Amino acid sequence: MVDTRLIDGKARAAGLRAAVAAAAAALKAQHGIVPGLCAVLVGEDPASQVYVRSKGKATIEAGLASFEHKLPASASEAELLALIARLNADDTVDGILVQLPLPPQINPQRVIDAIAPAKDVDGFHPENVGRLWSGSTSLVPCTPYGCLMLLREAIPSLAGAEAVVLGRSNIVGKPMAALLLGESCTVTVAHSKSHDLPAIARRADILIAAVSKPELVRGDWIKPGAVVIDVGINRVATADGKSRLVGDVAFEEAQGIAGAITPVPGGVGPMTIACLLRNTLLAACRRRGLTEPSI
Ligand code: GUN
Repeated sequence: MVDTRLIDGKARAAGLRAAVAAAAAALKAQHGIVPGLCAVLVGEDPASQVYVRSKGKATIEAGLASFEHKLPASASEAELLALIARLNADDTVDGILVQLPLPPQINPQRVIDAIAPAKDVDGFHPENVGRLWSGSTSLVPCTPYGCLMLLREAIPSLAGAEAVVLGRSNIVGKPMAALLLGESCTVTVAHSKSHDLPAIARRADILIAAVSKPELVRGDWIKPGAVVIDVGINRVATADGKSRLVGDVAFEEAQGIAGAITPVPGGVGPMTIACLLRNTLLAACRRRGLTEPSI
């Protein structure tokens, strides 16, 4: 039996938010600049509304400016592209975030392509994706960067570690693989078509679960001592007619096997918003050619 350590993402995220707030205060005092983040929400998806509200609250708490644009679910792609063109040209806006998913009449890639790469705080624009994979400075997607911050603290030396990423989304799996490769890990990306996922997962010193399948990863998928990062946030029904949040990993089964694991909630989730604030601050500095804080 291994003594499984809990990775406290909530505490790490609070530390990062405080560091962003301190750097933002210094930027304001020295240069009179207040970095601004604009979230764009199309339609009324309840989960997206919750995300955008909590992003707005965290932005203001860190001393950044928060802007929000809400378009009806019936909005056309042309309307959204026109709004993005305005935000690209607006000097008070340093970061633009278009909440995904978008309604079916709007092509998400065309929208992402229209965001100025320097303001693309999600790191989804092809220019930022290419820069990430080629190892140059870029705005990095928030959830995988948050995972990397937690990993760096859990494992002093990532170089040479066997990392397995379950999931190949543009938002998490693919950028996570790029980041781990950048840390000199040996990286495998596995997905729903992979043969024998449990055997692939069992190779991992670092296991990233990002498949949005409640408790897919069982205890016997985990190599003893592995560090497990659970990106899943899945709402499941309980016997008493209520619901609860579970990750992509069967958390109780992982106890005594994993060396360390992120809980759900309170693991990766809080890191995403903290990294979004960090990206907004970095974008504000880079756009103006100012030295960026090392946070
Ligand atoms: N929807 C789910 N996750 C994300 C994210 O990280 N960014 C955006 N823009 N939309 C999302």
